[in-house]
Amino acid sequence: MDTRVIRIDPLHPEQELIDEASAILARGGLVAIPTETVYGLASDTYNVDAVQRIFYVKGRPMDNPLIVHIDSVSRLNEVATDVHEWVFRLAERVWPGPITFILRRSPAMPKEVSAGLDTIAVRSPAHRVALSIIERLDKPIAAPSANLSGRPSPTNAMHVMKDLMCKIDAIVDSGDTFFGIESTVINMLEERPVLLRPGPIDLDELSRILATDIIVPDYARGIGYADTALSPGIKHRHYSPDTRLVLVESQSIDMLVEKVSSLLEYYTSKDLSVGVIASRETSPLYNNYGNVIVIGSRHDLYEVAKNLFKVLREVDERRLDIVVVEGFEEKGIGLAIMNRLRKASTEVIRV
Ligand code: TXA
Ligand code: MG
Repeated sequence: MDTRVIRIDPLHPEQELIDEASAILARGGLVAIPTETVYGLASDTYNVDAVQRIFYVKGRPMDNPLIVHIDSVSRLNEVATDVHEWVFRLAERVWPGPITFILRRSPAMPKEVSAGLDTIAVRSPAHRVALSIIERLDKPIAAPSANLSGRPSPTNAMHVMKDLMCKIDAIVDSGDTFFGIESTVINMLEERPVLLRPGPIDLDELSRILATDIIVPDYARGIGYADTALSPGIKHRHYSPDTRLVLVESQSIDMLVEKVSSLLEYYTSKDLSVGVIASRETSPLYNNYGNVIVIGSRHDLYEVAKNLFKVLREVDERRLDIVVVEGFEEKGIGLAIMNRLRKASTEVIRV
């Protein structure tokens, strides 16, 4: 299949190009589109064949539901049912933005979108291009991240091309995404909101907006749950490079650096080709080993989040035997960073 690449200005989208992308969706095509988090693989939500094709081209397990994207809160009643007044008020405050709510699925939504569940994930993306395409299509779109299942999410069009070229109808290229990490997912159907996946929004801030505590299960931190999953080998690895990744976590930077250094020394002594993913501040300490990849500053975890998936993809290109990655503080967006790193790693060492 020929995949068209459509370059659209992220801040001032050209209307004729928006028309072109939405026309492909209207015909039942699949189009990768930018959002403020990561690129999504979009289809018309009402087109069941197209929705099923999303699962097929991504190699996505059929029991993993998709997120529905809408252009305004006023569409919430179209995709969800029994939506509480306070959810509407919240949505007004946080959308468009990188927060996904799990709500009761509207009978109007095909069950395939939700992988058969009677719930539905909904968000309104804060990206001019995504919003304009949905507006023009005048329908909600279904869109998981536009990567092959199990691979790191795409934060630019090149990543999408690597995974999906010739498999989908079009790729909209609007440059790098803003956050580089997927939206925060919150289940709004329990007595108190439950965090299912941490994302760009600071949990304390979110808790203030929601005016209630948010329950954070271990699996939202990327620990527990996955270890007890039925097929841990499959369920545990996500966002993963093919390279063996060893994550080192510590409350103390000194101990972290010491452990990472000793691991690098050990693997090198075993004649393995090693690399290290480190912060800007600590990276000079590993210069003896070569293959030092700087992921961002410990003082700006947004920078780390933005580079995370790009770096995980780069790791494979270097064809190393093993890569050691430094952990980060689980604060603010650090919670989302650590969730992704733990899931991406083959081994986690705490010192
Ligand atoms: O930022 C994002 O959320 C990006 C952009 C494209 O919007 N999308 C994204 O979609 O990350 P995806 O499919 O890669 O991740 C969706 C997550 C999955 O972990 C899925 O299991 C969960 O949301 N999810 C979707 N529907 C759900 C539901 N009804 N109940 C519980 N979890 C759900
Ligand atoms: Mg995904």
